[in-house]
Amino acid sequence: MSVESKSDEERREETLIHHKPRTFSDKVALYFVKFLRVFADAFFAKRYGHRAVVLETVAAVPGMVGGAMLHLKSLRKLRDDEGWIHTLLDEAENERMHLMTFIEIAKPTRFERFLVIVTQMIFYVSYLLLYLISAKTAHRVVGYLEEEAVVSYSQYADRVKSGDVENVDAPQVALDYWDLPHDAKLLDVIRVIRADEMTHREVNHLIADKISEHPLGVKTHADMSDDAQAKLRDYEQRDFPI
Ligand SMILES: [Fe+2]
Ligand SMILES: [Fe+2]
Repeated sequence: MSVESKSDEERREETLIHHKPRTFSDKVALYFVKFLRVFADAFFAKRYGHRAVVLETVAAVPGMVGGAMLHLKSLRKLRDDEGWIHTLLDEAENERMHLMTFIEIAKPTRFERFLVIVTQMIFYVSYLLLYLISAKTAHRVVGYLEEEAVVSYSQYADRVKSGDVENVDAPQVALDYWDLPHDAKLLDVIRVIRADEMTHREVNHLIADKISEHPLGVKTHADMSDDAQAKLRDYEQRDFPI
């Protein structure tokens, strides 16, 4: 194994961070997400582009629900939100841009479009209810969903690297949004998106930890932009309005 591939391997291992469940509700969140993963794997198999399109329509929901819930709580309790509303709305916007990017790369089938509509109805209502019952569990679920997203994007990157999936030019929407060089490719896009997912993973696990009053801190990664790493460090210091 060459030095370069070894460091590549180490770098990859660092992306696949798992936050171990510590409470009963953490375990419920983890097994729920693992259960969902079985369905996603069975349905999409190795069609990573299609998988990304459909799952990003789901991923963009929790930030908007959490942001709205905190907004209402801030109004209700006449209390500052410590900046978390924007953090969660930014997450929702970022996930929607993942969708806008992948829709240029993989066109969903008619059945997938139908699936997106049904899934949104079910997921939006269920996530809202879960957030009302236990915001901590809701954020933990997202933390684990993001762990799975990092795994899936790593597998997608592997398929592009091996030549199984063509490394097409990055769509214009991605060049503009992530300020990528004009000759950027699909692999570059997968890498920045995976770094976004790592950020969401850390943010949501951190919020769940803060609600349970045992914050463990965040783990940054070299793939994350300096800005993303600075934001994560800032989130560690902020109180979460419980
Ligand atoms: Fe995403
Ligand atoms: Fe995500």
